[in-house]
Amino acid sequence: MATIRGKPVALVTGGGSGIGRATAVRFAELGYSCVVADINEPSAKETLRMLQTPGIAVHVDVTMATSVEAMVTTAVQHFGRIDCAFNSAGVEPIDERIVNTPEEEFDRVMGVNSKGVWLCLKYEIAQMLQQEPVMSDPGRWADKPDVCRFRGVRGSIVNASSIAGLGPVTGTNASYCAAKFAVLGLTHTAAAEYANEGIRVNAVCPALTATPLMDRFLEKAPPGTEEKIGSMYPVGRVAAPEEVAEAVCWLCSDACPFTTGEHLKIAGGI
Ligand SMILES: NC(=O)c1ccc[n+]([C@@H]2O[C@H](COP(=O)([O-])OP(=O)(O)OC[C@H]3O[C@@H](n4cnc5c(N)ncnc54)[C@H](O)[C@@H]3O)[C@@H](O)[C@H]2O)c1
Repeated sequence: MATIRGKPVALVTGGGSGIGRATAVRFAELGYSCVVADINEPSAKETLRMLQTPGIAVHVDVTMATSVEAMVTTAVQHFGRIDCAFNSAGVEPIDERIVNTPEEEFDRVMGVNSKGVWLCLKYEIAQMLQQEPVMSDPGRWADKPDVCRFRGVRGSIVNASSIAGLGPVTGTNASYCAAKFAVLGLTHTAAAEYANEGIRVNAVCPALTATPLMDRFLEKAPPGTEEKIGSMYPVGRVAAPEEVAEAVCWLCSDACPFTTGEHLKIAGGI
């Protein structure tokens, strides 16, 4: 039977902005201690000031193994374990088709959005494998002893993919699509590899979401692009980052111990 844990610990990469920031804020509202990690340390510290619970801001470049390993080490030094991780760090691509995309641009987008997720999985899972299985609310599953067993709850990870990880999106560069497809491959494989050791791995696939990333994209697009894209979604608008955050926190929580290897499309009905 799993033991009860104290305040759970969530690590969020890309936590200094957009979806990562909204998720750190939501984790804190739900009582998690947060590790807010970002290549932009001042923005990570700004997120920290928005949190209701104690947390730390950590500098990380998710493209570098030493940096990702150090992030995990720092998190564990402060909080003793990592119950949940949301790998949200990402960069948008340039607006070019394949023929006009420089090789370095492909490497940059794949480096952060794909290799970065692989490195985070590598070090987060290595840490989670060392942790005692715990549950925040064993009473929730008291009549289902199998759920509370060793297997369910060493850790839970969510990766940021995109609707661009499910198929080509008009106007979205192929390197970004390739990186987000890769995130799903990593998610499904990692989930299968570690399901029997109490670690769950899922992904979210948001449609266009109102974050600084979207603002930078819209700066280069014709006026009215946000409304035009939003009107293509049945709900008639783009997503708010808080709506993605809510889904991430649910996937990370003990509410869904059997949900692993899943990718959740958050796309207003498309
Ligand atoms: N906003 C959208 O429309 C949308 C839609 C689908 C998927 N996504 C994905 O969601 C994730 C978050 O996007 P967002 O909209 O919040 O973007 P954002 O630009 O607002 O935030 C991304 C954060 O990642 C950080 N970052 C960039 N490179 C990094 C690196 N090498 N190491 C560590 N941190 C790094 C940035 O500093 C920034 O704080 C990304 O993976 C993005 O591809 C976004």
